[in-house]
Amino acid sequence: MEQYVIKGGNPLVGEVEIGGAKNAALAILSAAVMTDETVTIENIPNVRDTNVLLNAIEEIGARVERIDSHTVRINGSFIRDFNVDNEYIRKIRASYYLIGALLGKYKRAEVALPGGCDIGSRPIDLHMKGFRALGASVDIRYGLVMASAEKLTGTHIYLDKVSVGATINIMMAASMADGKTIIENAAKEPHVVDVANFLNSMGANIRGAGTDVIRIVGVEKLHKTEYSIIPDQIEAGTFMLAAAATKGDVTVKNVIPKHLEAISAKLLEVGCEVEEFDDAVRVVSSKPLRHTQVTTLPYPGFPTDMQPQMAVVLGISGGTSTVTESIFENRFKYVDELTRMGAEIKVESNIAIIGGVSQYTGARVNAPDLRAGAALVIAALAAEGLTVVDDIYYIERGYEDFETKLSSLGALIEKVATEKEIQKFSLKNSYKVS
Ligand code: EPZ
Repeated sequence: MEQYVIKGGNPLVGEVEIGGAKNAALAILSAAVMTDETVTIENIPNVRDTNVLLNAIEEIGARVERIDSHTVRINGSFIRDFNVDNEYIRKIRASYYLIGALLGKYKRAEVALPGGCDIGSRPIDLHMKGFRALGASVDIRYGLVMASAEKLTGTHIYLDKVSVGATINIMMAASMADGKTIIENAAKEPHVVDVANFLNSMGANIRGAGTDVIRIVGVEKLHKTEYSIIPDQIEAGTFMLAAAATKGDVTVKNVIPKHLEAISAKLLEVGCEVEEFDDAVRVVSSKPLRHTQVTTLPYPGFPTDMQPQMAVVLGISGGTSTVTESIFENRFKYVDELTRMGAEIKVESNIAIIGGVSQYTGARVNAPDLRAGAALVIAALAAEGLTVVDDIYYIERGYEDFETKLSSLGALIEKVATEKEIQKFSLKNSYKVS
C-alpha cells in the first residue's frame, strides 16, 4: 500500500496546470459508446476512476484506442454485451452512466450497482425514476441494475432532489428517446453542461443545460465527434486552498474562473487575495486567515467536493467557523484524522464547528475518501513536522500526479511504499524546513 510522506511548512509558490474534469470525463466516456462512429476525446484526466471505466467499456466490446495519456478514441459499434460488471467497476459510482448510455442506444443495460466513496447514502432512485418515466423497466437484481425497454418515449421528469448523476443519466437516455423530454429541477454543475455540449456535438438536441430546466428532443442516431473536456473545478479548487493553507502564492492555470467563483468568494472572506485572469486564477495568502461560514450546495453554491479542503483551511483560521454539509451526510469522516493533527473540530449533525488553531502538527493519518484525502494532504503541507497519509488509493481516484504537481510548487512530498522509505525521506528533508 502506498502512502504520502510530507514534511510541512513550505509555502506553495508557482504555477500549476489543471487537468480535465474527472466527473465530466466519466460521463463523457460513457456517452461516447452511444454512436457507432469513432469519437475522439481529449483532456481526460489520467486517474484511476477514468481508467477503470475505460477498461469496463473495452470489456463489453467497444474499441478503445489510447492515443496518449489524455486522449482516447472510442468506437462503440462492436458492443455485443450489455452486462457491465467487474470487481473494479463495482467500486466506482460513475458506472451508473453506462446505464443511461446503453439504455439510450440499445434499450438494454445491466450494470453493477454503483459503489464509490463512502460519503453517505448514495441512492440511485432518481436515476431509476427517470428511466422508468422514459418507459424502461428497471430492477435491481443480483447486484446489478437491470434496465430494458421496447422503446424510450420522451416525457416530463421532475427531480425531487438536485442530482448531478440523475440529470446527466436521464439526459443521455433521453437523447435517443422518441420525442421531447423535459427535466425539471436539473443540476446546473459545469460538468452537466459539458456532457450536454458533448452529446450535442454528436448530433443530440439538448437545450437549457446549466439552467434548472433541460429540454431534450430525441434523435435516432448520434455521430462521430472530437471533443475536449473542461478543466477540473475541484482539482483547481484544491490547489487554491492548498495555497491559502500554506501561506503561499499559487496560480492555477487552464481553468474557467467562473466555475471557481464560490471558492474564490470564500478565500476572499478568509483574507486571501484572489486575482482572476482569462484562464487562470492566482491565490495569495499573506495575511492571517479569518473564520467564516460555509454551506455546501448544488452549483453555483459551494461544492461538497471542496468541503473537507475548506474545513482544513478554516481549522487554522482565527476565530470560530462553521461548515454545513447539506449534500452528503457522511462527509466529515476526516475530522478524527484532522483532530490527530491538532485541529479543534466538533461535529453536530451536519455541521462542523471549527475553532481555529495556530498550526497543525504532523501525524500518521488515513485518507477516508477522495476529497478528504486531498484535504489531509493540505493539512500536512501546512503542518509543522512530518505527516504520513495512508490509503492514498482514494486520492489517486481523482487527482493526477498530485505529488508531482505539489512538488513543483515547492512542497516536500513523496509517494512511498515502505517504512524504510519514510525514514529516508525524513532524514533527507529534516534540514530543508526553516
Ligand atoms: C456526483 O455524485 C459526483 N460523482 C460527486 O463527486 C459529487 O460529490 C456529487 O455529484 C455532488 O456534486 C460523480 O460525478 C461520479 P448527486 P452523485 O446525485 O451523482 C441524492 C467526488 O469527490 N440522491 O448530485 O452521486 C444524494 O444522496 C465525488 O468527485 C438521491 O437521493 O451526486 C445526494 O444527497 C464524490 N437519489 C444528492 O442527491 C438519487 O438517485 C446529490 O447527489 C441520486 C442522488
